[in-house]
Amino acid sequence: MRGEKLGFVICVWFLFMYGSCLCSFVVEKNSLKITSPENLRDTYECAIGNFGVPRYGGTLSGVVLYPKTDQTACNNFTDDLITKKPGSIPVFLLADRGDCYFTFKAWNAQNAGASAILVADDRPEHLITMDLPKEETGADYVQNITIPSLLISNSLGVSIKKALENNDLVFVNLDWREALPHPDERVEYEFWTNSNDECGPKCDTQIDFVKSFKGVAQTLEKKGYTRFTPHYITWFCPEEYVSSTKCKSQCINHGRYCAPDPEQDFSKGYEGKDVVEQNLRNACFYKVANESGKPWVWWDFVTDFATNCSMKANKSTKDCADEVIKSLGVDLKKIEDCMGDPEADAENEVLKAEQQAQIGKGVRGDVTILPTLVINNRQYRGKLDKKAVLKAICSGFEETTEPPICLSHEVETNECLNNNGECWMDTVANITACKDTFRGRVCECPIVGGVKFVGDGYKHCEAPRAPRCQVNNGGCWKSTKDARNYSACIDDHTEGCKCPPGFKGDGVNNCNDIDECKEKTACQCPNCKCKNTWGSYECSCSGNLLYFKEHNTCLSKDVATNSGWGFAWAVVLGVVVIGVVGYTFYKYRVRRYMDSEIRAIMAQYMPLGNEGDIPVHGSHGDI
Ligand SMILES: *[C@@H]1O[C@H](CO)[C@@H](O)[C@H](O)[C@H]1NC(C)=O
Ligand SMILES: *[C@@H]1O[C@H](CO)[C@@H](O)[C@H](O)[C@H]1NC(C)=O
Ligand SMILES: *[C@@H]1O[C@H](CO)[C@@H](O)[C@H](O)[C@H]1NC(C)=O
Ligand SMILES: *[C@@H]1O[C@H](CO)[C@@H](O)[C@H](O)[C@H]1NC(C)=O
Ligand SMILES: *[C@@H]1O[C@H](CO)[C@@H](O)[C@H](O)[C@H]1NC(C)=O
Ligand SMILES: *[C@@H]1O[C@H](CO)[C@@H](O)[C@H](O)[C@H]1NC(C)=O
Ligand SMILES: *[C@@H]1O[C@H](CO)[C@@H](O)[C@H](O)[C@H]1NC(C)=O
Repeated sequence: MRGEKLGFVICVWFLFMYGSCLCSFVVEKNSLKITSPENLRDTYECAIGNFGVPRYGGTLSGVVLYPKTDQTACNNFTDDLITKKPGSIPVFLLADRGDCYFTFKAWNAQNAGASAILVADDRPEHLITMDLPKEETGADYVQNITIPSLLISNSLGVSIKKALENNDLVFVNLDWREALPHPDERVEYEFWTNSNDECGPKCDTQIDFVKSFKGVAQTLEKKGYTRFTPHYITWFCPEEYVSSTKCKSQCINHGRYCAPDPEQDFSKGYEGKDVVEQNLRNACFYKVANESGKPWVWWDFVTDFATNCSMKANKSTKDCADEVIKSLGVDLKKIEDCMGDPEADAENEVLKAEQQAQIGKGVRGDVTILPTLVINNRQYRGKLDKKAVLKAICSGFEETTEPPICLSHEVETNECLNNNGECWMDTVANITACKDTFRGRVCECPIVGGVKFVGDGYKHCEAPRAPRCQVNNGGCWKSTKDARNYSACIDDHTEGCKCPPGFKGDGVNNCNDIDECKEKTACQCPNCKCKNTWGSYECSCSGNLLYFKEHNTCLSKDVATNSGWGFAWAVVLGVVVIGVVGYTFYKYRVRRYMDSEIRAIMAQYMPLGNEGDIPVHGSHGDI
């Protein structure tokens, strides 16, 4: 186990030391469809940058612009590069990779009025994830980037530039609808975080996010829409260094669980092991709260702790944490049991599980960027911001099962403000078919005063016509007698009138009762006594007999009971037979299905036929 983990540990060590990692990092992608010019028409992949706001669940269409000068977008575009008029089509700025930070290019593109930035890779390689600069100084603009940022391959960049040189208009549709899986009506998400609050803007962003997202997160969790789990990254000291002072100050449980020194200074302030211990406390808090059926209290704990017990204010102590735990009514004893003795030469179950969870299984990839949000087992890319994250979570629900908050104004895209989103509108009555949602706008005929309008939503909507039978009974015959209503009008979208059963006539002017007794269509058995009624008939039997309408016969009560049982037995037997046959068929189907599944899995390990290259994961880079 240790050997397997070591690769990861070294990798995480590199992450902290050098800010890059070559382990199984997953490049998250969305699709880019070129609709014109004709020769480029196709769907391509592009990598979602880890800043700005990707439109999870939505799409964005526009034209590509490649500037004449400053093609790396490393300077402020001073002239009117993009003229913004109301109703004008969105412009995506194409910039070359290199010379400055990805974030800076995006910031310049945004200031120039671009709706998205496409960065063309400067070398042929697999797509990489554009990340934030590692340096913290002068990067406060990063949080203000709100446009989506995407990296495209070198070859696609070349093709687009060629088309633009030929004065072709390049129309592009960016699509994030499949960027996250959305299989069902519950979203599972994880937040990989750290209790360290002294790492500068990155830590501030984390805690600001937790504070601002708390309300939404708790509401979603309480109503069962989501299942959230917090996670903490730790690494361990290689065996031979366990007794070094460095490991001792950064690790607990004899080098098993470590975190880097919060202010990168071993001589002062808090040490790495204080961070690990607090991480452990947070993880245990979650565990205990979850066991008591209130996992959402974790959000209260971390925000209260950040407010009252910050490292910055030199207030991060066990006593302070215990105060907060007690104030939230969570069992302190259980948390202490869960944490165990940090000095002991023993494993801690919770941290051990956390280390194992770090290694990505399947599509998720290893968690190597802190903080990382994982939604439906896929890593979220983009700004850690309440609205952007909520939008991403919303896109993780199966369509139509989104909780109400996803359809509230908080996550609206306001596309309806622009030319009514190209939807149908009645300006006189002031009703529109345009509805803003987190996915973008939809054109859907509205419900006005409880009446659902019908139409395509784009060119046409109208109030549905009243059911025809409600107006003058559709011109058909109707009559009431003995508190029973009979009508020759049927609301099933058919025209015309038809007398109801038990009547005959033209259905418009008259329907006359059929005398079943006289016409000898019912109640004809030897012991029967027939009596016609309006629209029906009554039949009774002489003596101790009962009339059975279905069989049109009189039977003795005893026979009736017996045959009743016989019938019940027949039903039971029928159900059993159907069950057995159905189960056999089901087993057969399951076996067939499993066979094909196993084949599919095998195919991934053993190239069956000429399978293409399995995409290789890229790494992230600064410039
Ligand atoms: C670039 O332009 C924007 C808006 O025009 C301005 O806010 C920003 O300060 C400028 N940045 C630099 C580095 O000149
Ligand atoms: C970013 O936005 C904040 C708040 O909106 C603002 O105070 C700050 O000046 C902005 N930073 C830059 C570099 O534009
Ligand atoms: C939290 O509780 C739920 C149900 O009580 C359980 O299924 C889940 O595994 C728990 N999560 C953790 C991380 O313990
Ligand atoms: C922080 O508090 C501890 C005791 O709680 C004290 O020994 C230490 O000097 C304080 N550090 C600073 C920088 O105030
Ligand atoms: C946290 O501090 C606030 C005042 O800043 C106080 O009102 C609150 O009771 C404290 N909470 C805990 C749990 O100590
Ligand atoms: C139309 O209705 C919207 C809200 O439904 C309202 O904000 C708007 O002012 C109305 N416009 C007119 C012209 O009445
Ligand atoms: C028959 O129709 C009348 C009005 O047309 C209605 O008030 C009454 O409830 C109906 N009776 C039954 C049994 O449906």
